[in-house]
Amino acid sequence: MKTTFCDVQLETAPGRVFTPRPTTEALVNAALERIDGVPMRIADVGTGGGAIAVALAINKPEIEVWATDTSEDAVELAQANAEKNGVADRVHVLRGDLLDPVPAPVDLIVANLPYLPESRHDSRYDDEPDDAVYAPGDGLETYRRLLDACRDGKLKTGGRVLLQYDGKPFEADCWQLEDLRARLENAA
Ligand SMILES: C[S@@+](CC[C@H](N)C(=O)[O-])C[C@H]1O[C@@H](n2cnc3c(N)ncnc32)[C@H](O)[C@@H]1O
Repeated sequence: MKTTFCDVQLETAPGRVFTPRPTTEALVNAALERIDGVPMRIADVGTGGGAIAVALAINKPEIEVWATDTSEDAVELAQANAEKNGVADRVHVLRGDLLDPVPAPVDLIVANLPYLPESRHDSRYDDEPDDAVYAPGDGLETYRRLLDACRDGKLKTGGRVLLQYDGKPFEADCWQLEDLRARLENAA
């Protein structure tokens, strides 16, 4: 099957890989506003079918993107979407946890990771893989681990983080990671 996301044609794999939602286009637009003509290294963490990574790379030829996911099906689909859209030379799709596969610090991290607690079933996502939607505990554990990884050197000094939570972008620079964590916890 196919979908259109940020005016980009993407293949989908319903039931195996999360299908990108229109609400995530706001996250892409927020990221595009932070890219200003100079070469940048960007990580799309939990890339799914590569929607965010591919949309960013098509709109900004000056960037290079590392797109990670733990799901083998997601990595396969993201690679196919990068190739189909002619950006596979600048979108490096890698399988692994969060920022682990990203080889060097990046300027911008964009992520739409699972954030619903397992106890809060949401029928809107019944056709999606559970690992793409639900996260342990209060649902924020995956984002907390990502923010920890930013502090461990995977985000450049002066770099920024853009996360999607509850359908909205949450943003911070590298000095505001604790504040971002608190804002997510308040929103949960
Ligand atoms: C809500 S889906 C979003 C997919 C895509 N970013 C989008 O917006 O359409 C979350 C994705 O994060 C991946 N994921 C979950 N835990 C992860 C982890 N620890 N490291 C990397 N990816 C992870 C899932 O496999 C899934 O593809």
